[in-house]
Amino acid sequence: MKLVKLLANLGYGSRREVQRLIRAGAVTHENGDALDDHSATPHAEIRFRGEPLDPEFPLTIMLNKPDGYTCSADDPGSTVYDLLPERFAHRNPGLNCIGRLDKDTTGLLLMTDDGKLLHKIIHPKSACHKVYRATLARPLEGHEAALFASGTLMLNGETKPLLPAQFEKLGECEALVTLHEGRYHQVRRMFAAAGNHVVALKRISIGGLQLPEDLEEGEWCALSADDMQRLLG
Ligand code: URA
Repeated sequence: MKLVKLLANLGYGSRREVQRLIRAGAVTHENGDALDDHSATPHAEIRFRGEPLDPEFPLTIMLNKPDGYTCSADDPGSTVYDLLPERFAHRNPGLNCIGRLDKDTTGLLLMTDDGKLLHKIIHPKSACHKVYRATLARPLEGHEAALFASGTLMLNGETKPLLPAQFEKLGECEALVTLHEGRYHQVRRMFAAAGNHVVALKRISIGGLQLPEDLEEGEWCALSADDMQRLLG
């Protein structure tokens, strides 16, 4: 891709603005040589005002989503997009959430500009199971594992039973739930059907990809090739 188009697509400015920046010498090779629109320089060697360029396309990131942020780009309140560099809002193609988390759910959120990958993961036949850690208002009663695994649990207002889900008790009021589908407020509604109430919910993995322990709430990182392998199995 030509430099002007690349930088414009990365959100550094309109094509005209980027042309001006290139002419002014803001875009260089790592060795300091000014680049022009015809330079075929590897992405990793390009500098913008001395700084490495933002990650190239396609880009998939994981974010440790904090409580209180929605996944919808046009929500008037705080959104997960507020946690990313301002320039990312101007990338073309832009990043979309791979499946949403509720405003008050925390943890692993994937975002990508790769439409094929997004559809692969959210497709109902996707092998990417999701694991949630739920904190409950009341002690677990012991019937939850069988209820969730039954394949007959019907959520309020729905006509199709849930696919079997795995349940693991972690403590009196704490459990892991593994889902193989993604319905609206699914974990919260499952516990409501079991006579309990979720007070905190965190997604800790998608497919074989775990939320890294050193990724603080509100932080993000690009997926490496190894992460992608773990995700898709
Ligand atoms: N289940 C829920 O109830 N909420 C989420 O955000 C994800 C799964």
